[in-house]
Amino acid sequence: MNNTLRFPDEFLWGASTSAYQIEGAYNDDNKGENIWDRFVRRDARVLNGDTGDIACDHYHRMPQDVALLKKLGIPCYSFTISWTRILPEGRGQINVKGLDFYNRLVDTLLDAGIRPKATLYHWDFPQLLQDLGGWPNRDSVDWFAEYAQIVFEKLADRVKFWVTHNEPWVVAFLGYATGIHAPGVCDYSQAYQTAHHLLMAHGKAVQVYRQGGYDGQIGLTLNLNGLMPASDSDEDRAATQRVHDETHALFLDPVFKGEYPQALFNFIGPHKPNIQAGDLQLIRQPIDFLGLNYYNTDLVAFDIHSGLNKARLTPYSAPSWGRTEMNWGIYPAGIKGEALYVKKRYGNPDLYIAENGCAMPDEPDENGFVADWDRIRYIKAHIQALHEVIQEGVNLKGYFVWSIFDNFEWERGYGPRFGLVRVNYETLERIPKQSAYWYRDVITNNAINL
Ligand code: FCB
Repeated sequence: MNNTLRFPDEFLWGASTSAYQIEGAYNDDNKGENIWDRFVRRDARVLNGDTGDIACDHYHRMPQDVALLKKLGIPCYSFTISWTRILPEGRGQINVKGLDFYNRLVDTLLDAGIRPKATLYHWDFPQLLQDLGGWPNRDSVDWFAEYAQIVFEKLADRVKFWVTHNEPWVVAFLGYATGIHAPGVCDYSQAYQTAHHLLMAHGKAVQVYRQGGYDGQIGLTLNLNGLMPASDSDEDRAATQRVHDETHALFLDPVFKGEYPQALFNFIGPHKPNIQAGDLQLIRQPIDFLGLNYYNTDLVAFDIHSGLNKARLTPYSAPSWGRTEMNWGIYPAGIKGEALYVKKRYGNPDLYIAENGCAMPDEPDENGFVADWDRIRYIKAHIQALHEVIQEGVNLKGYFVWSIFDNFEWERGYGPRFGLVRVNYETLERIPKQSAYWYRDVITNNAINL
């Protein structure tokens, strides 16, 4: 029996990070304040009072970090750009030092033979623009386009792989509905308006990119986690459909079909966003690929007390899998379900898994080494499911693990560790875990061994 699952020759392996989670240097070199800089200073918003002020100090250690990526054989590095490093006030005056950091990052990556992939927005909105209303303000579409244009002009000659937004659902609903993320607002109307403006901002940035005539590809990354009804009851099925519409169709339908899910809008009634003539055309720009982030699957039950959707989510795990350190379920087949869903409903676009990985209870030995076989098991099972996805005709082009480094995990601070590389937050030393070496072999062989 052949126990090796080989991937197509052109399959792209990579690793992802995000600016606020690793860079630190929160006020160096004229960087402006963003909403996470502000949020972490509000009482009890982040576990243990942790902040991203220093994080992995990647801003100061970038050359060594790129050298480590090279040593670990990472072919493509997916990073995100901090808006207020480039535009401290969110618009207007450009900060050359901020732009220069990303310029150096890109050159250092290319010198190391690593392909750069850049995301414009991973949740760190400029505070001064937040003071003007943030994403719920329709002007945010133009603010974002201005920022995008500046970044493209500087970097798109060398960066050929662009993402507008990472996980707009999280921005809209955790930022503006449940308020567990910055800016900490609890208002469904603002959440839906934010979703609409994020989509318009995406469309406008794609237009700007096309008008610039750059010869790369641009897309959007969504978190499409799995959902299953907790029972066969009509109530649970309907609740699942609502959550599915909010997390999937609300973003996929306008981008790929130029329409919003009407059943959801009927259900939320007065909370639905203001949409003007031409908005949906702007959103429906052809994109070159879709980024899909998958971590877990939840069971959904009707619950009159649970939010606008009246839906309660509980983690689901396949037999023998248990849960991750985040208390997320583990269901590798779910990643396959999501990829097949996108293929079936949205015309089989080129697809990248832009994030997948897990926080595990890493136990370093006396040298700081972590033998994280549980993480390897998780990642391998998901990659195995993706191999099946390719056999079933999905245009899956690559896989990016979240994350290369342990980092600041938003409202959970430095508790959960997702990295293939351990970061000692006292000394800031980086120590590759077992999974980093295992992943290097996967990349070298372009295959997993079962
Ligand atoms: C995703 C985020 C990423 C990280 C992982 C665990 O939703 O995009 O920043 O926090 O979850």
